[in-house]
Amino acid sequence: MYSFLYIIIGLAILGILIGILWRFSSRRWKLPCPTWLSWLVELDNPFTKNNRANTIIEYLDLKSGMNVLDVGCGPGRLTLPISKKIDPKGKVTALDMQQGMLNRVQEKAEATGLQNIHYLHAKIGDGKLEHSQYDRALLVTVLGEIPDQESGLKEIYNSLKPGGILAITEVIFDPHFQRKSRVLQLCKKVGFQVKKNIGNVFSFTLLLEKPL
Ligand SMILES: C[S@@+](CC[C@H](N)C(=O)[O-])C[C@H]1O[C@@H](n2cnc3c(N)ncnc32)[C@H](O)[C@@H]1O
Repeated sequence: MYSFLYIIIGLAILGILIGILWRFSSRRWKLPCPTWLSWLVELDNPFTKNNRANTIIEYLDLKSGMNVLDVGCGPGRLTLPISKKIDPKGKVTALDMQQGMLNRVQEKAEATGLQNIHYLHAKIGDGKLEHSQYDRALLVTVLGEIPDQESGLKEIYNSLKPGGILAITEVIFDPHFQRKSRVLQLCKKVGFQVKKNIGNVFSFTLLLEKPL
């Protein structure tokens, strides 16, 4: 009985140590969330309501026919429900620096018959996006993985139509977590106006508008 308890405590301590190590190494080397961990992202965060796909999609006030950009889409946790929501005339661009993540989105989209997803294998900040084309953009637990955050945010800003909205979500459980005050400072520097500030310092979504 006691040995079972020791194993559970040992595993919990090991998990915490791995988490701490990952958090510090991610800060130093900006490692992207690996494709083999996509199942963890797909769990849709049962602990933090603010990071759930449905909650974020509600904040975005999506309408059929909109053009949406999902930056760092990962395995498509948000891309797929967005694709359904803006159908039939809208389009969502799934952008990720890892081809393995885009393959996962494509597999799932094909299985559900969704055809309005455009796949873009790119690093945000490298200047692949055209200007003034999106109504909405998302950056959900991605910002901390981007080496040059200001260039990344500037590219998103330029790619939005005037009046377009970017949603940034951060949660403390993510090893790449970014503080709200820092995110706000960066976004204001790039030109965004804060439309809504939802959540608390540990888990938040910021809705940021490109002024008209
Ligand atoms: C933690 S996952 C989040 C996935 C998704 N946004 C979600 O919340 O379900 C972060 C994703 O961002 C991608 N990523 C990191 N840095 C990036 C960059 N500079 N450009 C494009 N994608 C990036 C990673 O490859 C990974 O798939």
